[in-house]
Amino acid sequence: MSTIINNIEIIKAKATKINDVDFNNLKFGHVFSDHMLECNFKDGKWAAPKVVPYQAITLDPSSKIFHYGQSVFEGMKAYKDANEDVWLFRPLDNFNRLNISSKRLAIPELPENYFMDGLKTLLEVDKEWVPKNEGSSLYIRPFVFASGNGFHASPADEYKFIICTAPSGAYFSGEVRVLIEETYSRSANGGVGYAKAGGNYAGQFYPTQLAIEKGYQQVIWTDDNTHEYIEEAGAMNIFVRINDTLITGPTSDRILDGITRKSIIELAQAEGIAVEIRKLSVLEVVEAAKNGTLKEMFGAGTAAVISPISGFGYKDTDYDLPKLDDTYANYLKKRITDIQTNKAEDPFGWRYKI
Ligand code: PLP
Ligand code: COI
Repeated sequence: MSTIINNIEIIKAKATKINDVDFNNLKFGHVFSDHMLECNFKDGKWAAPKVVPYQAITLDPSSKIFHYGQSVFEGMKAYKDANEDVWLFRPLDNFNRLNISSKRLAIPELPENYFMDGLKTLLEVDKEWVPKNEGSSLYIRPFVFASGNGFHASPADEYKFIICTAPSGAYFSGEVRVLIEETYSRSANGGVGYAKAGGNYAGQFYPTQLAIEKGYQQVIWTDDNTHEYIEEAGAMNIFVRINDTLITGPTSDRILDGITRKSIIELAQAEGIAVEIRKLSVLEVVEAAKNGTLKEMFGAGTAAVISPISGFGYKDTDYDLPKLDDTYANYLKKRITDIQTNKAEDPFGWRYKI
């Protein structure tokens, strides 16, 4: 039996798995809620999405996702406030970025109502899965991939758009130390770095494993041409505080245009913090670490929220960041999470009620 909400058909799971989940000990993206949204592209058009039980999908071995990597995704979070209302943060920005990514990978773009109505309906159905505990949220993973068949190296003729959700805790479990990369590159001019393409992450895994073996958690990517300028980290954009100024690199076709990054820039500017969006050389950061003007580094992203960086490695030397009492990272993290969780006014109109 199916029902319809917001024009979306819902086929309910026979039983819920929610009682098996320890909401006080949530890892990141480890358990999945009862339902998912599924939408198929065939014969040149997207069919209406449906909410269905979370389940395995069957694909032909010749599906182009396996061979040519046509796949893009998004990362979002839903938050529950004290009244049990559920909120999203700037969801239209995720929708638009998904289509920007799709376009770059020759994947057909999605209609806005399929994404937004589908997402709203999925969250209404799985509302109980949105955690209430501080620091936890329902991580939302919309993704699109080539399900169409064939070994011809050309775009597929069939695609699937799916949204799965996972009640999640913090992305990083301990302190975050980063390695500034001098050899490998995440992206190149004219490439796909600005897209949230699955392959961008696969390409980072090996260099990141090498960094992890040396005791770091993430790589900070530098520009592929000279390796002289800081770009972003594997799963977050990077901010550096030198004296009292917050600096982040400009976005480009090599860097993901992070929604957290642009929100932090607006928030910091509104709070009177000096922000510079400009090229930031590794040598400037190393020099600032040596002369004591480097006060903070932090990553910003949906999964990472704001993650302070305790130190970095560069050319076989380790540099520690000072341990300050009042950090921009802590201040801005509280400001942004208070807005996301409906604990503070939202002068920017970023919150979106489900
Ligand atoms: N950079 C990369 C490579 C990412 O994977 C992410 C995470 O989504 C970000 C930056 C931050 O983007 P956002 O703040 O939109 O989540
Ligand atoms: C996110 O922050 O939502 C991301 O997509 C990063 C991912 C690597 C976990």
